[in-house]
Amino acid sequence: MAASSSKLVRLLACFLLILLAAASTAAGHGVQPLSRIAIHRARVALEASAAVWASPELLGSKYQFANYSSDYGKSGKGALKFLLINQRQDFSFALFTGGLSNPTLVAVSNKIAFANPKAPVYPRLAQGKSWNEAERDGSNEYSNYQPGSLNTTDTLIKDLDNIDIVFHIGDISYANGYISQWDQFTQQVEEITSRVPYMIASGNHERDWPNTGSFYNGTDSGGECGVLAETMYYTPTENRANYWYSTDYGMFRFCVADSEHDWREGTEQYKFIENCLATVDRKKQPWLIFMAHRVLGYSSDFFYAQSGLFQEPMGRESLQKLWQKYRVDLAFYGHVHNYERTCPVYEKQCVSSEKSHYTGTMNGTIHLVVGGGGSHLSNFSVEVPEWSVYREMDYGFVKLTAFNYSSLLYEYKRSSDGKVYDSFTVHREYRDVLACVKDSCPPITPGA
Ligand SMILES: *[C@@H]1O[C@H](CO)[C@@H](O)[C@H](O)[C@H]1NC(C)=O
Ligand SMILES: *[C@@H]1O[C@H](CO)[C@@H](O)[C@H](O)[C@H]1NC(C)=O
Ligand SMILES: *[C@@H]1O[C@H](CO)[C@@H](O)[C@H](O)[C@H]1NC(C)=O
Ligand SMILES: *[C@@H]1O[C@H](CO)[C@@H](O)[C@H](O)[C@H]1NC(C)=O
Ligand SMILES: *[C@@H]1O[C@H](CO)[C@@H](O)[C@H](O)[C@H]1NC(C)=O
Ligand SMILES: *[C@@H]1O[C@H](CO)[C@@H](O)[C@H](O)[C@H]1NC(C)=O
Repeated sequence: MAASSSKLVRLLACFLLILLAAASTAAGHGVQPLSRIAIHRARVALEASAAVWASPELLGSKYQFANYSSDYGKSGKGALKFLLINQRQDFSFALFTGGLSNPTLVAVSNKIAFANPKAPVYPRLAQGKSWNEAERDGSNEYSNYQPGSLNTTDTLIKDLDNIDIVFHIGDISYANGYISQWDQFTQQVEEITSRVPYMIASGNHERDWPNTGSFYNGTDSGGECGVLAETMYYTPTENRANYWYSTDYGMFRFCVADSEHDWREGTEQYKFIENCLATVDRKKQPWLIFMAHRVLGYSSDFFYAQSGLFQEPMGRESLQKLWQKYRVDLAFYGHVHNYERTCPVYEKQCVSSEKSHYTGTMNGTIHLVVGGGGSHLSNFSVEVPEWSVYREMDYGFVKLTAFNYSSLLYEYKRSSDGKVYDSFTVHREYRDVLACVKDSCPPITPGA
């Protein structure tokens, strides 16, 4: 990849870089190769015969996955070339032997200083053309974790003149504890985030870690525990550690839940969700949207079908009364990497046989899984549930257009070509939702 030579760091090592070649024996968390080093067992044993030199000593720009000279194993000498992101601290480079399980520090390089160490690290601004290319040539991406994400970003950017706000509901960068991936992601979406609000939600890859208060006890955040997400992006939460919030934009109200914290009846989050849905003034925001990362509603992804639940355990049971009472129009989820749309549904029953033009009161909520933004795709169950109207295993995103207070257009587009593959409209009169303000919402009988 192209880069001006003044920004290159050249690292020369007169020693075997055994570390990179050694077989993995140490158990550790994470998918990134360096996470397998048993760093807690590291020893310092500096050796006069080992040395690392870093040059130039002053530099500006960024990080890139390093390339190395191929014959270092034979000669004992090697060079690494890479770029570093602007950092506040000086950098030194360390040389270890002993493989992954017995790391032994044998040499430390001279210090490298950054040209502009006081540059703000937040918000992160564009750093120029070469930064973008790191992702495009794949050199900065470990394990090709999100093969569809560049298409999604590119296709959104092409239509940006017609987009007012973007929601990205969890599993944002898949950094899993590796900050360089956040840098890469924030840059990837910079053309979007510099022009329209980019609203995120919390997913398992931002939040989950055992014994840290997350609802799920997995290790999917790689130890980030939501700190990186809440630092990189602003959201109008009352308490940023709890990633739920309400936001109105034009004719929409969005009630964004945090599926990584308990949402069940009696919890703080449940109260928030009810309050968000109950307080909307539908004269001003007639279109009421619920969002959460994990599928708290309906999905026939094979994983959710295996359990026979077709959802995250305890999702619908906890929330469907609220969706119905407050007449939530649409509920969006991610988490499973595919696209699926339900009929307007309540208690697993379709409450409308219509498929593409909904008129009058929405007698149930339409649930949408839009989880094909980037990461490897996931397949569906063989059995197609009655409530599943459209499902597709491809990369894509959804666009909502409120023409006015009574007309909404929904479009699912593929990331690869930006064309519409699924769509529907909703037409209704004011009174269809005005009947449902605050606590005066009349009950709806399913089965229309
Ligand atoms: C990395 O180095 C090898 C050998 O030195 C070279 O063949 C290869 O093209 C380099 N790759 C990149 C991306 O620069
Ligand atoms: C996570 O662990 C806590 C504490 O053991 C437990 O109360 C909770 O039910 C677990 N969460 C899930 C989703 O299993
Ligand atoms: C997905 O699953 C369906 C059956 O549910 C199967 O027919 C199809 O071949 C699968 N597709 C892929 C790409 O695995
Ligand atoms: C709302 O917009 C739709 C679609 O453009 C249009 O057909 C309809 O006449 C509009 N209704 C009102 C009340 O303006
Ligand atoms: C990205 O889009 C191109 C067409 O623009 C397509 O050929 C390619 O397969 C897409 N990549 C993925 C991973 O879907
Ligand atoms: C909701 O039910 C009413 C009464 O049965 C019906 O007129 C209306 O069309 C239904 N709405 C939708 C979107 O199907």
